[in-house]
This record gives sequence, structure tokens and C-alpha cells, in this order.
Amino acid sequence: MPTFADARSLAETLLADHLPDRWLHVQSVAREALRISALSGVDREPLIQAAVLHDIGYSPVVARVRFHPLDGARFLTARGYDARVVALVAHHSGAAIEAGMRGVEGLDPLPDEASPTRDALWYCDAVTGPQGQRLTPDERWTEIRRRYGPDDLVTAFLDRAEPELRAAVDRTTARMDAAGLERDQASVES
Ligand SMILES: [Fe+2]
Repeated sequence: MPTFADARSLAETLLADHLPDRWLHVQSVAREALRISALSGVDREPLIQAAVLHDIGYSPVVARVRFHPLDGARFLTARGYDARVVALVAHHSGAAIEAGMRGVEGLDPLPDEASPTRDALWYCDAVTGPQGQRLTPDERWTEIRRRYGPDDLVTAFLDRAEPELRAAVDRTTARMDAAGLERDQASVES
């Protein structure tokens, strides 16, 4: 079974040269995942592997149907990654909602575990900007809407998905508060 070091070097190979900003983003998502990986109910290894791998589907080497959560998940399945890591990547940050809006099929056989681990991954993605900068979730969602523009499907997706994204963030920050873990490190740094 691949380790976190394997996952990180795979992500680096796929992203660092072609998509350097995306590589900065995923490294930062992985750092935040490591920081919160001891939270109650969170399983460290699936979280940190999924964090560093969640956007590999953007790599031109990986892209097939051009829906990055599914392309990434299928690539990882073929390389023997744990089924939980595969499913976390497939469903990260509201992917099922976007798949429905785009008419992309293929996510259904993979379960959305809807667990603290999954919430933690969604949280890490929501507090990390496109070059790895720390943002609040609201800054992040504003940035995405601005980047894609009002007429893009991504903006429409975000309008629909935001309550679920926010709920995952809120559950995670509640777990961080309960553990006495700093929650605003992010916005202080940015
Ligand atoms: Fe991401």
C-alpha cells in the first residue's frame, strides 16, 4: 500500500512542472491536513494522502473525462491506493454536486464517507488559496467566484454547494475548538 511519501512524490511528479500553482496549493492543503490530523474521529493516513493527491486530476497526464475528482480517483485506483483515499479524492469539496450539474457519471460507485476525515479534507481545501495562501473559507469562495466569473458553471456549483461546504468546515472547526487547536492561523498569516 502506498505511503504518504509515495503519495507526495506522485503528486509532485504530476503537478510541479505542469501546474506549479496547483502544486503550491496541494502542498499547503497537505500541511494543514497534517496539522489537524490528530482531531477526534479523523484518520490521519487517509486524510494526509488524500490532501496531497486531491487535485492530481488536473494533471494533463491524469485527465481523461476532464472532471478532476473522478480522473484523480481512477488514476489512484489503478495505482493501488487505498479505497478510502480514492473515495475521499473522488468526493472532495462537493464534487458529487458538481458532477450532477455537469452530467458526469462514475462517482456513484465510490462512497462519500461523510466522516470527520472527509470534513477535515474539505476544510483544508476551503482555507487554502490557488497558490497555497491561507484564506478564510469566505475569502476562498469569493476568490473562486471572482476567478471563474458569474456565468461559469463553477460559480453556479459553488452557489449550490456552499451550505454543504460550510457545514463540513463548521464541523471541523468545532472539532478544532474542542481540541484547543488554533483555527485562525490561516488568516493571520495571509
Ligand atoms: Fe484543492
